[in-house]
Amino acid sequence: MTMKVLVLGSAAGGGFPQWNCNCSNSSEARKNPQRAKPRTQSSIAVSVDNGKNWFLFNASPDLRQQINDNVALQPKTGIRHSPILGVFITNGDIDHIAGLLNLRESHPLSIYATKKVLNILNSNTVFNVLNPDFVERREVSLNQTILLKDKNKNSTGIEVEVFPVPGKIALFLEDKNKGNNFGTDEEDTIGLKIIDKKTEKFFYYLPACAEITEDLKNRLKRAPMVFFDGTLWKNDEMLTANVGVKKTGQRMGHMSMAGDNGTIEIFKNLDVKKKIFIHINTTNPALLEDSIERKKINKEGWEVSYDGMEINL
Ligand code: MLT
Ligand code: MN
Repeated sequence: MTMKVLVLGSAAGGGFPQWNCNCSNSSEARKNPQRAKPRTQSSIAVSVDNGKNWFLFNASPDLRQQINDNVALQPKTGIRHSPILGVFITNGDIDHIAGLLNLRESHPLSIYATKKVLNILNSNTVFNVLNPDFVERREVSLNQTILLKDKNKNSTGIEVEVFPVPGKIALFLEDKNKGNNFGTDEEDTIGLKIIDKKTEKFFYYLPACAEITEDLKNRLKRAPMVFFDGTLWKNDEMLTANVGVKKTGQRMGHMSMAGDNGTIEIFKNLDVKKKIFIHINTTNPALLEDSIERKKINKEGWEVSYDGMEINL
């Protein structure tokens, strides 16, 4: 049996096109979707039982659309049913948590996150629309390998190794009084090694990462597959695109694809078999099917994920 990975959403926060954005990329996505394929906000689904059950990794605000777009995630038996067993959250930003609200009411689910991210859910009572009698929140610790279970504590067959990656506290929790990291700590952004317990096949999922440390390099070396933060092509891209956001990629907690310290360059020595960018921002020229940047990405052995992309491991 293979492990199935389904990309539900490949865009960064805001999606592609973004609702209030009329930059050349966003407007092209509206006018010429063949050249600039629209994308929903970042999330993947994983199945280790031939597509019968799925576990979500992040819950995008576009989850309702993603379920409608992917038959695999739709009800299969009885009057009320979902093949979605739960959600694992890798950071507290809107693009990764707001979709939980689509899963409201009385459906059994298990939600996994660090204590820091669970605190966001626990301190916003709106998330109680996921009826606590049916939905269990489970805390994960850093550097732990955990077997994911459904609400009734049955194994899903998916194991996850949790590790901290350089990143940033959720945008809406930034505290200027806490210095230049705005109160970020290790639990704000995590990377995951997602493992099929039976076959021991695995891949890495890092939709946000501000820097590849030596530790991270060693971890990712020779991995069969890595999904990696593809937010920006260049660190100052948001500034030069004049979209009104005066922030660099680093300020937002994201590495860039290009440049000497960019993701493409650093991965050159890591011998990763399949390299896939995810969480791609509306300003990134890699979103255009015919851009020079896309060609360069592909030439360097990277793929740019798209909604509905399916991989069997
Ligand atoms: C990010 O990844 O930087 C965030 O999704 C930004 C946001 O929430 O708008
Ligand atoms: Mn994001």
